[in-house]
Amino acid sequence: MTVAPSPVSPQAGDYDRADWASGFRNVGVELSDVAIQASHGTIPSELQGTLYRNGPGRLERGGHWVHHPFDGDGMITALRFEDGGVRLSNRFIRTEGWLAEEKAGKPLYRGVFGTQKPGGPLANAFDLRLKNIANTHVVRLGDDLLALWEASSPHALDPDSLETRGLTLLDGVLKPGEAFSAHPRFDPGHHGQERMVTFGVKTGPRSTVRLLEFAVADDPATGVKAGQLLSERSDSFKGFAFLHDFAITPNWAVFLQNAIAFNPLPFVLGQKGAAQCLASKPGGQAQFWLVPRDSGAYAGQEPRIIPAPEGFVFHHVNAWEERDELVLTSIFYADFPTIGPDMDFRAIDFNQIPEGLLERCTIDLTSGSVQSERLSERCCEFAMVNPACQGLASRYAWMAVAERETGNDPLQALKKLDLVTGEQQVWSAAPRGFVSEPVMVPRPATAGAPAPAEDDGWVLCVIWNGARCASDLVILDAASMAEVAVLELPLAIPYGLHGSFVEG
Ligand SMILES: [Fe+2]
Repeated sequence: MTVAPSPVSPQAGDYDRADWASGFRNVGVELSDVAIQASHGTIPSELQGTLYRNGPGRLERGGHWVHHPFDGDGMITALRFEDGGVRLSNRFIRTEGWLAEEKAGKPLYRGVFGTQKPGGPLANAFDLRLKNIANTHVVRLGDDLLALWEASSPHALDPDSLETRGLTLLDGVLKPGEAFSAHPRFDPGHHGQERMVTFGVKTGPRSTVRLLEFAVADDPATGVKAGQLLSERSDSFKGFAFLHDFAITPNWAVFLQNAIAFNPLPFVLGQKGAAQCLASKPGGQAQFWLVPRDSGAYAGQEPRIIPAPEGFVFHHVNAWEERDELVLTSIFYADFPTIGPDMDFRAIDFNQIPEGLLERCTIDLTSGSVQSERLSERCCEFAMVNPACQGLASRYAWMAVAERETGNDPLQALKKLDLVTGEQQVWSAAPRGFVSEPVMVPRPATAGAPAPAEDDGWVLCVIWNGARCASDLVILDAASMAEVAVLELPLAIPYGLHGSFVEG
C-alpha cells in the first residue's frame, strides 16, 4: 500500500479486484490490549480516548458465505490512545445468534440482506426470525458501550473489556425487540447539556417514529444521570418508511422518507432477504418529515411534511437552521442499490450500481419549497462534520471517496471538503488500500487558549491494506489531510460500518 499521499491518481478503476475482495473474510482471533507502535510517523500525544469500530467480523460459517457482508456478525475493534501509544482489542458480540451458530458450526438464521439457511427456499420459507447481529454502529451511553443494529434492541458491552453484558432495554425505555436506530446523533449542547438523540421506527402501511433524547453525562445540578431518558415523542406518518439515518438541528429532527415500497412475499416464501424486498416506487414521492424536538422552540407541535427531491438516501451528513431555512447535506443515490438473490457480492460490477453523491437541500420552512444542489461529483460515503458542529452551521466535512473523480468504484481515499468554497484535500490509500469510515476527532481545547479551529484535529481511519492482507490505522491531520502516522495492526478486519471516538 502507498502510505504517502498519491501525487498522481491511478487510472480510473485502476485497482486490483483481488486486493479489494481480500478484505471480505472471517476474523479468527480476539486480541486484548496489544500495544501497537507506529510504522510511520508519531502518534499525537493529545489524542486521548478510544476509537471504537463496529462491522461484520464473520462472513462465512461451515463453508456457507453470507449473501451480503451486512449480514455478518458484529465485531468490535477498540483502539485506545493513551500517552502517545495505542492498544488494540477486538471482540465478537455474544449475540444469541452468534452463540448458537458457534455451537452448531453452521448458519441457523436467515439474514436481512439475503443470506439464507442451507437447504433452499423450503428450509427458509416462513422462518421470519430476525438475527440481531449487532454489527452497524458502536457508541458510549452511560456505563455501557452499545452495539447497535437498527431492527432490534442494542447489545450492551463493557467499554474496557468489550465483554458482552447482553441485550439492553435501556432501563425499561425499550420494549423487547423494539427497533432502535443504529444512527444516534450527539447534540453537542444546543440547549445546555449534551444529548444523544435517536429514534426507532415501526413501519407498515403507516409508520411510527419514536424520537428519544438521552443525557450523555451526569448533571449534579439536576440529578440527571448519564444514559437517562430526557424526552420522547412518537409520530405516525402515512406510508412505508425505510429510515436508516436522520439529522438534527436545535429545533428539529429531520427524516427523509425514501420513495420505496416493501413487498414481503419473497421474504416470507424463503426466496429473498427482507431488505431485498425493498424497491423503488415508480412515481413515488419522497418526503421530509421534520419532527419538532422537545428541547426546541416548536416542542409539542405537529411534524412538518415537505416533498423531497428524487433519489435514495442512506446517510445524512449534517443539518442546520439559517433564518427560515433548514439546510441538510446528504449522500444521494439515483436508485436503491441492492444485490439480487443470484449475485455474489464479491463479483459485483461497480459500473452497474449507482454511486453516492453529496447534495445539499435547502428547505424553506415558510413556503415548504426545497432547493437542491450537487456539492461534488465524486462517489462518496461515510461523511461527517466536526462533532462540535453537529446540528449547527459547519464549513467542513470529511468523507470516504473513490479514487477517481467520477464513476463508481470501491472507496480508496479520504476527502476533506470545504462546503463553502468547494476546495478539497484528498489522502489516498490507492492503489492497494481501501478505506472505511473516517472519524474526525477535534483537537482538545486548552484552558486560556483560543478555541481550536473547526478543522483542527485528526482523522482516524482503519484501512484494508491489500498488500499486507491486514488492516492499518491511519491518522491524518484533519486540516491538511497530511499523514501523521500509520499503525500496521496485527489484525485483518473486514470492511466495517460505523464507529465513534470516546474521549478520556
Ligand atoms: Fe449507516
